[in-house]
Amino acid sequence: MKNQTVLSGMRPTGLLHLGNYFGALENWIRLQNEYRCLFFVADWHALTTGYEDTSNFKDNITNMVIDWLSAGLDPEKCVIFLQSSIKEHAELHLLFSMIVPLPWLYRCPTYKDQISQLKDKNITTYGFLGYPCLQAADILIYKANYVPVGEDQLPHLELTREIARRFNYLYNKQLFPEPQPILTEAKLLPGTDGRKMSKSYNNAVLLTDSPEEIRKKVSTMITDPARIRKNDPGHPEVCTVFAFHKVFNKESVAEVESQCRKGAIGCVQCKKNLAEKMIEYLAPIYEKKQTLINKPGYVKEIIENGNKEARKIAKETMEEVRNTMKIDWLSDK
Ligand code: TRP
Repeated sequence: MKNQTVLSGMRPTGLLHLGNYFGALENWIRLQNEYRCLFFVADWHALTTGYEDTSNFKDNITNMVIDWLSAGLDPEKCVIFLQSSIKEHAELHLLFSMIVPLPWLYRCPTYKDQISQLKDKNITTYGFLGYPCLQAADILIYKANYVPVGEDQLPHLELTREIARRFNYLYNKQLFPEPQPILTEAKLLPGTDGRKMSKSYNNAVLLTDSPEEIRKKVSTMITDPARIRKNDPGHPEVCTVFAFHKVFNKESVAEVESQCRKGAIGCVQCKKNLAEKMIEYLAPIYEKKQTLINKPGYVKEIIENGNKEARKIAKETMEEVRNTMKIDWLSDK
């Protein structure tokens, strides 16, 4: 399957949390063994909503890529690159903007959601409306066959396929394949307060939190509110700590569940057991990160090497695009 291309991107949010890991990165790491894979930092996408304050961009990009590498993305197996380094994405985005009807963008559910949610930011901009058009350029410029994403991104992928079809139809050539999603499993892990895990809710456990931080965060996790005394019977199905046991302590879930239901173990002890399991599970990632932060320049080098490979493919596609559209006016061909 190495002749099939997988591509995905993440906006540079800085240090990753466990939701990012189990919701995306873990999948990427598996896919790099099976397909030709390209993974990139979507910094232009981050600009669409974050154009006012760019002071954190540089650190966020580096920190995110350090987390990718710590978790096991391997530059020997996949191409890791930075979107804004490959100017061809911008050219394809511009050309797509000529053929994409505005109503396709206005009716995109993510556009409507974000406009109503991000009330404190002015995102009634040209760039933000064109977000899915840029995403289509990211994907189609590498002729990706598969795009691993969460469910929230499905409308963008649908739009990408529509743009591919429209282009192929208008210029009468099957240039772009229609990419299919590889869906990542629904959120397995809630935040420490039981809501969706998100840095902005302050309820996230980071992928590379230290053992002390993990113990501290686990100790604040919300458990079954009906368990007041230690030997009250518990309801694991409503307990945040139990949701984590299911991921980090697979071999003992049945026992954890029965002890909780019988009131045979208190929440404090149950949390301590969980914290130690999480620390053990995450230790290789944590240790890898310690070696990477002592190698400044290394991460930059990985990105620069990846950029070169990505650029090569993007340049080839753009030649084909100009040729197909018959806009390579000065060429001799
Ligand atoms: N929009 C995606 C997100 O917010 C990030 C992204 C940008 C992306 N371009 C992409 C994902 C291309 C997959 C493919 O998560």
